[in-house]
Amino acid sequence: MSATVPAITYNVDLVRQDFPILAREVRPGVPLVYLDSTATSQKPRQVIEAVTRYYSQSNANIHRGIHTLAEEATAQYELARANIANFLGAQTPRQVIFTRNTTESINLVAQTWGRTNLHRGDVVILTEMEHHSNLVPWQMLATEFDLKLEFITVTPDGLLDLDEYQRLLSLTPKLVAFTHVSNVLGTINPAKDIIKMAHDVGAITMLDAAQSVPHYKVDVQDLDVDFMAFSGHKMCGPTGIGVLYGRKSILESIPPFLGGGDMIKRVKLRSFVPNEIPHKFEAGTPAIGEAIGLSAAVAYLQNISMEAITAHEKEIIHYALERLEEIPGIAVFGRPAAHKCGVASFILQGVHAHDVSQVLDRDGIAVRAGHHCAMPLHEKFQVPATVRASFYLYNKIDEVDRLVDGIYKVKTLFKS
Ligand code: ALA
Repeated sequence: MSATVPAITYNVDLVRQDFPILAREVRPGVPLVYLDSTATSQKPRQVIEAVTRYYSQSNANIHRGIHTLAEEATAQYELARANIANFLGAQTPRQVIFTRNTTESINLVAQTWGRTNLHRGDVVILTEMEHHSNLVPWQMLATEFDLKLEFITVTPDGLLDLDEYQRLLSLTPKLVAFTHVSNVLGTINPAKDIIKMAHDVGAITMLDAAQSVPHYKVDVQDLDVDFMAFSGHKMCGPTGIGVLYGRKSILESIPPFLGGGDMIKRVKLRSFVPNEIPHKFEAGTPAIGEAIGLSAAVAYLQNISMEAITAHEKEIIHYALERLEEIPGIAVFGRPAAHKCGVASFILQGVHAHDVSQVLDRDGIAVRAGHHCAMPLHEKFQVPATVRASFYLYNKIDEVDRLVDGIYKVKTLFKS
């Protein structure tokens, strides 16, 4: 059995022992410095073992067979749903729908709730800091249904302009869909206030929590959110598994997303009766092993405690911002630090972001370079690409130093 991290004292070295990949060298003599967890997190052995255990002991299809393996697989899959519901503070596991990822969860809402409730001329409020996954599904619907998309602007500090939001609310939107944490700026948006303000004018809310749920405690009842989406792979879980949380009454009132097996109660040649929630939204054989892996990831994070993870990341991002801003010619996007999660995106004068990333990679430092699936935000800041360093529960302060040393090397190489 691998090391269990005590809930009170945060011991990053002990945490790192749980992640086999962190011990590897990118090439001989060059250890990995993984600063790309916002793209996808690494996986602890507890998750890898849970997935392996499922496939080596209990693999079977769910909700179909009545043999022992089928019953075991079904029980483990439904237990995963219950554990995740509990992690989110949901009233019932039936509010947790398994999808492939955040993108699919948002598309599910657009194609079911959206198609049923949005009509010509209706206003949908989004923000300028959205990931493409919370823009394009609404753009597609807007084109088809002639909807009006309005955007809360981003201030030069990388915060949402809430005065402008207040003005936009006078347009009585049907939907306010926004990100909890920007995947580029790391800005933590005041989700509870934004949701309350939306509800005050009768709007439904959709929260993209892909970058918040992995990093701090998110309680759906406290937020009072209508829909919330996130991905397993950014929170130590497997790829191919995501979650849509929904308000029960809304989920029950909207039509299914995909048609097929398991999402039905009865089928005739020309008609069908949809199943109850959540099965109504889970057509076909789902990602069973991945759901079980995500549940193991949730248990892993809970064992460490979300509060301890948040505090650790805060320490790292504060230090990273201080160190990065010492570097001549660097511009970090999104301040102030108090509103930031463990994400630092920057440009280095005179050097393209891809070149920075490529040179850092020679020293084993993995960062993402590009528009990070947020092209409109980059246009807003008038930069084609940024370099993004992102931190998670297993990163160490000295990895920030390695990053900074690496950037100085880039400067020397490019004489910037
Ligand atoms: N959404 C992921 C990112 O920001 C892929 O990198």
